[in-house]
Amino acid sequence: MKFEFTNPTRVVFGAGTLDRLGRETVRMGTRALVVIGGGSVRQSGTLERALTSLKEAGVDATVFEGVEPNPRLTTVIDGGSQAGERRAEVIIALGGGSVMDAAKVMAAVPYYEGDLWDMMIHRGADQRLPRRALPLITVPTLAATGSEMNAGAVVTNVDTTEKSYVIAPCLYPALALVDPELTMSVPPDHTAYGVADLITHVTESYFNGTGVTPLQDRMAEGVVLTAIEYGPRAVTDGKDLEARAQVQWASIVALNGWVQAGSSAAGFPVHQIEHVLSAHTDLAHGAGLSILSPAWMKLAATRYRDKFDRFARRVFERDDASDGIEALETFFHSMGCPTRLTEVDVGPENFDRYARDAVRVGGDGTRVFGHPPLTVDDVIEVLRLAA
Ligand code: NZQ
Ligand code: ZN
Repeated sequence: MKFEFTNPTRVVFGAGTLDRLGRETVRMGTRALVVIGGGSVRQSGTLERALTSLKEAGVDATVFEGVEPNPRLTTVIDGGSQAGERRAEVIIALGGGSVMDAAKVMAAVPYYEGDLWDMMIHRGADQRLPRRALPLITVPTLAATGSEMNAGAVVTNVDTTEKSYVIAPCLYPALALVDPELTMSVPPDHTAYGVADLITHVTESYFNGTGVTPLQDRMAEGVVLTAIEYGPRAVTDGKDLEARAQVQWASIVALNGWVQAGSSAAGFPVHQIEHVLSAHTDLAHGAGLSILSPAWMKLAATRYRDKFDRFARRVFERDDASDGIEALETFFHSMGCPTRLTEVDVGPENFDRYARDAVRVGGDGTRVFGHPPLTVDDVIEVLRLAA
């Protein structure tokens, strides 16, 4: 249990906090680039409220629109160039994980020299991390990734069909303005995918092969139990503010580093395989995870059982590992998440290609990092179990 922990992001949480955006922004600068996705924040009125608040505080705001789900490298380069050209002093991300991730990298672009794809982890030792970025305010409109309070960003390179990520201290948002009311317009499918995503963030660390992280384990179990209690409520009734708030805080705690401190060294194997899947198919991240998480667990539980037995007992009050995994799969399905690759039209013809990409992009060339480390054959087995 050797680890370093820091998380400098200030969090302001609560219904109505969006209206503080102008006051908070002006403390960091008076020229802002507001980054948004495909228009959901226009339809919900969130963008208008944000721009009004910025204007009242005397902030000159430019909107960069069009970050796609699974954000693309070219879009991030465009937005970063705009930030530089307009001499933005602060970047504001108003959207889901895709918008927040794109905005993080955009914030680093004005200071980054060379090929932006070198910033991503895909070339292992050759990765060149960003060292400096403009201050970033995240205003999440979807509860899922926890990007609002972490230093990670995931970007897709369409030219190479690779999806990869960067984690760097300068990418921590300065402020996360978390207003659960903004998530009330998220449709049921994406609400459910967000719940699957946040659960997988803590299970990736939980099944890490060590039995000596009792506090982290209890925290992870608490996150999963909270998601199981409130997730279905948010899916069924999007306007259930209490459920929205609980799910959103759970999603933040799931990946802000608290649960991972001392427990995540093995890696994030399910995420690595999912990133390959969405690089090739543009599948929503959480939908890929609800399919792959139970499948990976089935494989991993054949290599070591104790933690899976404990998970089954503590989270689902079931007696053994396979019952616990089945209960998780049933839970995902009950929220409307896919749990089989056939449901998202992915057949076995590309399993070999996906598995090779997974060990190349998400590993050392021969294995995906994780517990257990996964060979190409192991990844193919996970995909078969998910078929
Ligand atoms: O683009 P708009 O029009 O905004 O619509 C989005 C999008 O279509 C919509 N949406 C967002 N907020 C809404 C809303 N619709 C109605 N009302 C609202 N309030 O939802 C759709 C999905 O949005 P997206 O941002 O793509 O979803 P999510 O938050 O799940 O983010 C997924 C991305 O984050 C990465 C994923 O790989 C993926 O690229 N991840 C980032 C992580 C991180 N930075 O720590 C960790 C995660 O494991 C993950 O890999
Ligand atoms: Zn995730």
